[in-house]
Parts: sequence; C-alpha cells; structure tokens
Amino acid sequence: MPTTVLRDIGTLVTNDPALGDGPLGLRRDAAVVFDDAQVVWVGDSADAPAADQAVDLDGRAVLPGFVESHSHLVFAGDRAEEFAARMSGRPYGAGGIRTTIAATRTATDEQLDATVRRLLAESLRAGSTTVEIKSGYGQTVDDEWRSVRIAGRHTDEVTLLAAHVPPPEYAGRADDYVAMVCAEMIPRCAPEARWIDVFCEQGAFDRDQSHAVLSAGIAHGLVPRVHGNQLHQGPGVQLAVELGAASVDHVAHVGAADIDALANSDTVATLLPSADFCTRNSYPDARALLDAGVTVALGADCNPGTSYTTSLPFCIALAVRELHMTPDEAVWAATAGGAKALRRGDIGALSPGMRADAVALDAPSHLHLAYRPGVPLVRQVWRGGVLAS
Ligand code: NIG
Ligand code: FE
Repeated sequence: MPTTVLRDIGTLVTNDPALGDGPLGLRRDAAVVFDDAQVVWVGDSADAPAADQAVDLDGRAVLPGFVESHSHLVFAGDRAEEFAARMSGRPYGAGGIRTTIAATRTATDEQLDATVRRLLAESLRAGSTTVEIKSGYGQTVDDEWRSVRIAGRHTDEVTLLAAHVPPPEYAGRADDYVAMVCAEMIPRCAPEARWIDVFCEQGAFDRDQSHAVLSAGIAHGLVPRVHGNQLHQGPGVQLAVELGAASVDHVAHVGAADIDALANSDTVATLLPSADFCTRNSYPDARALLDAGVTVALGADCNPGTSYTTSLPFCIALAVRELHMTPDEAVWAATAGGAKALRRGDIGALSPGMRADAVALDAPSHLHLAYRPGVPLVRQVWRGGVLAS
C-alpha cells in the first residue's frame, strides 16, 4: 500500500500530550504520514517527508477517527410514532424495546444486515472509524445468535446484550429469562462476541439478575459493560465497578458514592447525551464526573428507540452545550475516551504506531464541532490509511 502524507493541517488533534499542547496534544501547521494502515510520522508540515500520495488540507483540522463505543444497529423497523408521542408528553420506558424485538424477530438476516450496513455508512460519513455493535433485539437464543453473527460481519467489537428487556413470552418471569440466558444463550453466543451487556434498570433487570448475566458472560470469556443509571439512580454503576466492567453507559442518574466508585476504578463512564436529548431525560453531570477524575467517553447510542442518530459530532455539541464539557474534553471523549471504553490501545490517537484512522473537517479546528452544531463538517475520513468517505 502506498504511503500518504496529510500536510498543511490547520489544527491537528493527536491525543498524545507528548506530541503537542494539552491533553489533546494539539499541533498547528502539522503533517501526518500513514504507511499502510499505520501512522508512522507526526510533525511540522514544513518538515513533512515525501510520500507516494500527498493530501493538502489547506489549513483544515485533522483529528483521530471517532470511536463509537455504544450502538444498537441490529434491528428492524423504527419507532418514529413512539418518538412523536413522547414529544407530546408520554414518558420513555423500557417497554418500547419490545416493539423493536417483535419487528426484529420477523426480519430476515438480509434485512438486518442491510440496516447495519446503512447505519455504518451513515456513521462513517459522520467520522466514526470504529463502531461497537450490540445485539439485544432478539432475546431468544436463535435471534441473539444471528444478531451477534450479523454484527460480527462488520466489526470486531461485538456485544451480546443478552438481557435488554424480558421478552413478552417471559412477561412477569424475568428470573426464568435470566436462567435461560445463563444456561443457553450465553454458551451459544459467547464465541461470536467480545462483550457482555445488560440493561440494569427498573422495568428491565435488577441488580441480582444483571449480576447473574454478567457473571455468566465472564465465565464464557466475555468482558462486561453495563447499561446503568439511565432512567433512575439504580445499582448499575456500582455493579459495573464491582465486576470490573470496561464501561458503564448512560450514567444520567448518579449519587456521590457512584461517582466515587467510578473515580477509583478502571471503568469508563460512557455518556450518551443524544439518548437523553431524545427522551427528555436529565443529562448526566459530566462536570462532577470529570472533576472527580472519572474517565469519560461519549457515544451516540444509535438505536430506534432512544437515539436514532449515528452522529458523534452532534453528541460533541450536546456534551458542550448541555453537559458543560469543554470542547477539548468532548472531542477527547469521542475519540480517546471511546478507545478506552473499548480497551483499545491502537485507536483514538494519531501518533506513530496507531491505526491510521483520521477525520479531516471543513473547519480550521476541532472547536468548530461544538461551535457549528448540526453542520456536516466531516469532509474526509481515512480508515486503516484508506480514504473511506
Ligand atoms: O441505550 N437503554 C436501553 N437500551 C437502549 C434503548 C433501546 C430502545 O429503546 O430500543 C438505550 O437507550
Ligand atoms: Fe444503549
């Protein structure tokens, strides 16, 4: 594969403090060289070595590709009417998930695959170069198995969301559903996934049920991540920390003990402000989390119920305006933060040895992502050194 130099970059976000200013490792008038799928050189544009291909950025910003660490792309149908009803005052509850379970179970593999493909293309255009994909709209052994198989055609970051909501045939029998998940679903699906996830929430699964599912996943080689504290101040955060989860996601309703537990752990708090936006939920207290030293990631949580968006630039704008994160913190959370939530050391930064995943903006700096909300600023996307969008 030819080498490529990106030169005359206005502002380069490296996310490597050794390469530039502040936690984002910012450099002005910079250049980056890709060799095959890797970054091999970062420096001043004036010193850039020759390469087989040169891309002149004319002062535009370049940053690491966004790392989407939370998405639900394997589903059928949509819930636009539920959204409209919610905007007229109906509250969001976990029950809407069953509408999508019904539609997903009747869809063909080809239909599900086409939806994943369409949403991944959309997400790539918005700058996401790595996307985690969850199952969770099958909730039978066979439907979860085909969901993780389909997800695995498109990403290495496959999550078995084995316990999303008790499906209708287990109404009022969540314990029986959990027993089936542990005895049958996880053993069958674990070889197709990297992560195990559970929706620990009122109306979904309680602490003990969530603990059972995550422990069964761990016993089958999966690493836990948790949907926790989305709608209520429940036990999800504490459970995630206790089990050494890579991340706990949503974190919109927490107390001081939750923040403290996260601050003293390796568990990332993945904030999903577009879900709070689309459900009129309270936003997480990102300032309290960050100021306590918690590692924060941002995800778009693309799903047909709470957040039908694939746009991390939109989430960055929300994080700055509504969660009071600084633009630098929000950009870090959507890149390096996502990489930490996925425990990946090869993505989320642009320094020698990292994967050549990068985004060029139609703007001179990364600050414009929050400053110009709703504007499609992503101009070019390289994934593994290849111009992908
Ligand atoms: O991340 N919270 C649980 N799961 C999804 C919503 C799923 C749905 O409403 O379909 C979420 O918000
Ligand atoms: Fe989710």
